[in-house]
Amino acid sequence: MSDSNLTIAIVGATGAVGAVALELLADRSYPAERIIAMASSRSAGKKLPYLGTELTVIEATPDAFDGVDVAFISASADVSRALAPEAVKRGALVIDDGSAFRMDPAVPLVVPEVNGADLEWHQGIVSIPNCTTTPLAMSLAALGQVATVTRVTVATYQAVSGTGAAAVRELDEQASDLLAGRPANPREYPHQIAFNVLPQVDDFAADGYTGEEHKMINETRKILHDSDIAISPTCVRVPVPVTHSEAVQVEFERSVSPKEATRLLSEFPGIVVVDEPQASVYPMPSQASGKDEVFVGRIRRDASHPNGLALWIACDNLRKGAALNALQIMDEAVRRNCVKPGR
Ligand SMILES: NC(=O)c1ccc[n+]([C@@H]2O[C@H](COP(=O)([O-])OP(=O)(O)OC[C@H]3O[C@@H](n4cnc5c(N)ncnc54)[C@H](OP(=O)(O)O)[C@@H]3O)[C@@H](O)[C@H]2O)c1
Repeated sequence: MSDSNLTIAIVGATGAVGAVALELLADRSYPAERIIAMASSRSAGKKLPYLGTELTVIEATPDAFDGVDVAFISASADVSRALAPEAVKRGALVIDDGSAFRMDPAVPLVVPEVNGADLEWHQGIVSIPNCTTTPLAMSLAALGQVATVTRVTVATYQAVSGTGAAAVRELDEQASDLLAGRPANPREYPHQIAFNVLPQVDDFAADGYTGEEHKMINETRKILHDSDIAISPTCVRVPVPVTHSEAVQVEFERSVSPKEATRLLSEFPGIVVVDEPQASVYPMPSQASGKDEVFVGRIRRDASHPNGLALWIACDNLRKGAALNALQIMDEAVRRNCVKPGR
């Protein structure tokens, strides 16, 4: 099966990730008649501009998946849990953006550059990782080629679009309100996000880590097939519209030089090294937003550990962190001839 004749459903087409998925399909001139835009009943009938024409949004119901080959679901975990099995029942490959199935042992969690081969055993649903996990897993896969990674500490700087389209509007509104001397009105987050930094992404668990931090730990281990790797994340929301950044310290079983790390990262598919600190050149959201690659810089020896490296990552959370990774999974499934499960 080639990807040009696949009928694709985008569930959540009116959302932040869905909009980027449509942008990416338009970049490929994917034919409008092969795309079905779906969302909740609230959006049914809404028109979305696409390649000089319009897609009419329909409500995502089980029967709406009749005839669909690939369903990208970018809505919520509850929506995925309700609709993904229905889509699979009707013969679709579901590529799910949410957290519903990521840790299900029967569901591959895939970053094609790292573990594309896991697609071979899908049974209808493939999950994509959390948007902070993908760039971290790619960087660790690159570095782990020469020395086992034993421990990772990471602090994230996560953009508000990671929460969805409503949070982007809220950041804009709060910034305008505060600059005009009006109070901010938090809705998406427990505190104002404009001109602020929140050391909380998701709810707190009993161990003091948040749900997002647990996702980074568990998903990274699953993608890398390494249940021993020790990971301690601190996930932080920052008032940036798009692109998550991460400050990472990696410990290896042996010393890895910054030069060797730079070579490994540069050669890894989907990673671009941007690292001229003397010229103040390093990855930043303003530069990485709208780009497909994971950008890595500030590569240096960890001053606190002889076998450690420190680095800085920036990655567009809506592209490689979500919609692009999902489309690349479809491409990889086509390439491996495993769009349909149970070959
Ligand atoms: N944003 C990111 O960086 C990112 C990265 C990786 C993964 N994800 C995951 O992707 C998913 C979507 O995130 P987002 O940022 O795009 O959120 P969003 O901007 O809030 O959009 C949510 C989408 O889901 C749709 N939806 C809500 N209820 C629905 C229902 N009952 N049936 C069908 N569609 C429904 C909404 O449609 P209406 O317009 O009709 O309400 C909207 O299109 C989430 O699971 C998120 O965890 C997001």
